[in-house]
Amino acid sequence: MGCGQKESQEIKIAKGKAQFVGYGCTTCHRIGKEGGALGPDLTTIGFRKSPEWLDLWLKNPPEWKKNTLMPNFYLKDQARKDLVDYLSSLKGNLFRKGEAPWNTRELLQDPVKRGETIFLRVGCVGCHGHSGKGGYPNNNVVGNQIPSLKLVADGFSKEELKNKIFKGSKPVPANSSKEAPYIYMPSWGEYLKEDEIDALVEYLYSLRPPVSAEESW
Ligand code: HEC
Ligand code: HEC
Repeated sequence: MGCGQKESQEIKIAKGKAQFVGYGCTTCHRIGKEGGALGPDLTTIGFRKSPEWLDLWLKNPPEWKKNTLMPNFYLKDQARKDLVDYLSSLKGNLFRKGEAPWNTRELLQDPVKRGETIFLRVGCVGCHGHSGKGGYPNNNVVGNQIPSLKLVADGFSKEELKNKIFKGSKPVPANSSKEAPYIYMPSWGEYLKEDEIDALVEYLYSLRPPVSAEESW
């Protein structure tokens, strides 16, 4: 019984992978070394997003995020389920098995650039936007958005920032009688190594806009 179940799970994942290629998702999304970069890298998508949200997103991307580049594919229920199974299985193993793209000799000498590469490739960008500029929706949170990270250097010491990334955090619902927010900050300590989180901290600190002479008083 257990064996049959495992096999059917593997078949579902294989079907989802075939859908992913068949629908041309690879044009915009990278998994491991393959695919385009118009949309977020999906190598860790199953670690950072729940199956419930993935299903909601694939049903109608522009309904969740206005003006998104990702089209509505009007997927049939079965195709969508297979895709969700496949995406949920992607927990970042590909980066751990092969060379993680942020461990090149050049990047190891440049913590800010290395942090930026990690930010892009593990998918911080999928929730916080490019350069942490924000603008990504969440449900049932004050302001209806995932926070921007532009100014975290003002609110957090490096140690606090490291701790936040390590532990993650579940947003407090704006209204406790409504459905909990779908999007939460994952506990990155379960996936990232300490030196990788250090590089992310250096990158986030580099995002703070310079204070102009006029604004400084
Ligand atoms: C034309 C480019 C494009 C295509 C094709 C495309 N996507 Fe996307 N996708 C995006 C963009 C861009 C985003 C990020 C949302 C945004 O910023 O608008 C995204 C976001 C996502 C996310 C959420 C990523 C995250 O980090 O939260 C998933 C999952 C996803 N796409 C899956 C798919 C699947 C499955 C297909 C094929 C059926 C597909 N995409 C096809 C552009 C595309
Ligand atoms: C799946 C979506 C998601 C991903 C991916 C994600 N975050 Fe977050 N992040 C959140 C949410 C939601 C919050 C707000 C949590 C709360 O309200 O408690 C948050 C909060 C934060 C904060 C605190 C900001 C503040 O002003 O309180 C930092 C720093 C942060 N994230 C950094 C990162 C980094 C670095 C990565 C990549 C390693 C990352 N996040 C990936 C969703 C995400």
